[in-house]
Amino acid sequence: MKDIETYTEIEDFVKKFYKKLLLDAQIGHFFQELNLESHLPQVADFWAFILIDQAGYSGNMMTAHSKLDLSKSDFEQWLKLFHETIRENFEGTKASLAIERSTLIALTLKPKS
Ligand code: HEM
Repeated sequence: MKDIETYTEIEDFVKKFYKKLLLDAQIGHFFQELNLESHLPQVADFWAFILIDQAGYSGNMMTAHSKLDLSKSDFEQWLKLFHETIRENFEGTKASLAIERSTLIALTLKPKS
């Protein structure tokens, strides 16, 4: 398996991740109403900034999540699926960085109970 190197690979793993999210019994409902045509490029831009230093992400992560009622266990499930998606498709420094950063960011967004 290879590492994450291009924007196309990021778009591809974001699509695969959202397939899992949408089917998930616990947290799938948060994503059902989203317009994926505009949401997925934002998420891909976010990861492109973190993983391949590509400018473009202009959203506000904190605001996007503050209006959702998310529990600690919702975050654990989100992370489980994200880590699974990365591990199933890539290995290397960037893949590890994606896993590390997602865990750290989840901590900053995550409620305590
Ligand atoms: C329980 C966990 C999570 C749930 C249910 C969740 C759900 C959502 C939803 C519904 C949105 C759309 C908000 C809107 O447009 O109004 C969103 C946006 C977003 N989420 Fe999450 N999220 C979770 C955790 C995370 C984590 C840990 C990360 C990053 C490591 C992340 C990255 C993003 C990004 C980049 C956006 C786009 C924000 C923007 O610029 O508008 N999410 N999330």
